Amino acid sequence: MIKHDVVVVGGGLAGMRAAVEAAEHGADVAIVSKMHPVRSHSGAAQGGINAALGNREDDSPELHAFDCVKGSDYLGDQDAIEAMADDAPRQIVWLEHRGCIFSRLPDGRIAQRPFGGAGSPRTCYSADVTGLVILHTLWEQLERFGVKVYEEYFATALCVEDGIGTGVVAYNMRTGELELVTAKATIFATGGLGRVYAKTTNGYASTGDGMAIAYRAGIPLMDMEFVQFHPTSLKENGVLLSEAARGEGAYLLNSDGERFMFKYAPNKGELASRDVVSRAEWTEIIEGRGVDGCVFLDLRHLGREKILERLPQIRELALDATGKDAIDTPIPILPGMHYAMGGIETDKFGATSIPGVYAAGECACVSVHGANRLGGNSLLETIVFGARAARHAVEYIKSVGSVRQSARTLLAEKSRIAEILARQGGERHPQVRKRLNGLMSENVFIFRTEAELSKAVEGLREVRAAVQTMTVMDKSKTFNTDLTGLLEAEFLMDIAMPIAYGALQRDESRGAQARTDFPERNDDKWLVHTRMRYTGPTSDPKPDYERKVTFTKWQPQVRTY
Ligand code: FUM
Repeated sequence: MIKHDVVVVGGGLAGMRAAVEAAEHGADVAIVSKMHPVRSHSGAAQGGINAALGNREDDSPELHAFDCVKGSDYLGDQDAIEAMADDAPRQIVWLEHRGCIFSRLPDGRIAQRPFGGAGSPRTCYSADVTGLVILHTLWEQLERFGVKVYEEYFATALCVEDGIGTGVVAYNMRTGELELVTAKATIFATGGLGRVYAKTTNGYASTGDGMAIAYRAGIPLMDMEFVQFHPTSLKENGVLLSEAARGEGAYLLNSDGERFMFKYAPNKGELASRDVVSRAEWTEIIEGRGVDGCVFLDLRHLGREKILERLPQIRELALDATGKDAIDTPIPILPGMHYAMGGIETDKFGATSIPGVYAAGECACVSVHGANRLGGNSLLETIVFGARAARHAVEYIKSVGSVRQSARTLLAEKSRIAEILARQGGERHPQVRKRLNGLMSENVFIFRTEAELSKAVEGLREVRAAVQTMTVMDKSKTFNTDLTGLLEAEFLMDIAMPIAYGALQRDESRGAQARTDFPERNDDKWLVHTRMRYTGPTSDPKPDYERKVTFTKWQPQVRTY
């Protein structure tokens, strides 16, 4: 039987940062992860991490916070945003002191590049492989503190005894056995949900596991309708080409060779916020100024030397996928599903509605991104709120004597998995997943209408029925990816509905939610968070709008770039 003070579910940046913080504070902490931590999707983060370091007179944590509030289209909670912006410089120094290699200015200070929607260049970076560099830094810290990592352990359920979280049940992918991981505090850090969509910048593992597990256990999911489409994903395969390219000066061009962004964002052009740029690109494409359903990212004028020094991965990714060399050819791109602004509802310390259960990083909704996240804030959120959730978890466990092992949750999971393995005759999960992906990609995209969203919700109800009968062909125990694929498809189903349902209910346009039938932001009605509660595997979520947006300094204004 596995038992620790704190268990972190997920081994990406938020999970590792949480584990290191808990270990530094003396807790016995372990990570449960379905893959080796350095293979986490955080390693695909390219462009950088935001912090007002104090290197420039025109920047400050306050300006950073304001940019986030404006970027969020005034849906972000301002107290949480201020906490993040204030802590950011400290966290960069923390990383640097642990060996994180940031790119430098000639005088030795950490270099910072401009990113979309930012009032000052404040994105610290390691060329265009920032996530990977931070991931390796944190892995070294895990080793240093001897944090136990249960890798290839696939979490399936949260244990709750007497109303408090007591760990998780996890499927040991090597042995095919379900095991109880008991802990006084549980921190979810399982990342995003990109695989709800057919094409995404997210890795195959981004199946919203932690969100679905917490949701099933009764914790609300918040603001799920706000899905970010990144302006520059490769047309061929949906892979991310970092905003760093535009930060370094790359252009977006339409079929006429026009830098069209200034029509949509006269002051910021290509460096407007992501929701604005993605809508502009899509407008160009649907109005006939694209080429084969895409527009172009043009780096040519940056020159070979700058591209090779600052954007080497982008060039390679484009070269691999298209055979085109960004040094001398514009690259075909289009908006691609990238990030979930919503997630497990937490307070500004990462605590959820179940005592002893925390969430951090993309799986959480704190909320610091509101209706639209600024580039460079996702890495920051993982680091700031990973550490913050861990600090609070460590405080919390001081008041917890011992926790009851949740044998009943283990038994329930064992019989659930046995029932799945015994099923005959239902649909195979890849087909079910394809239908789900199609519904989401076609109907819950950049521009949304009531008709499309209703179609998505209706279609998802049908898919939901099929999900209950999905079958696996592989009944074996060792690395049964057929089974874990089915469990992931169930997670995707559970979180797709709150996205579509929330988008249908919210009859306004705000940030990434662009309703062509309700094109205006409606502050009188919608300065509230959407919370969705789970009601069962075959029924619709229960929405509530009781949680109001927290304001500190900034009242809503018209948002232009
Ligand atoms: O474009 C990028 O490099 C992505 C950064 C982010 O999502 O924060």
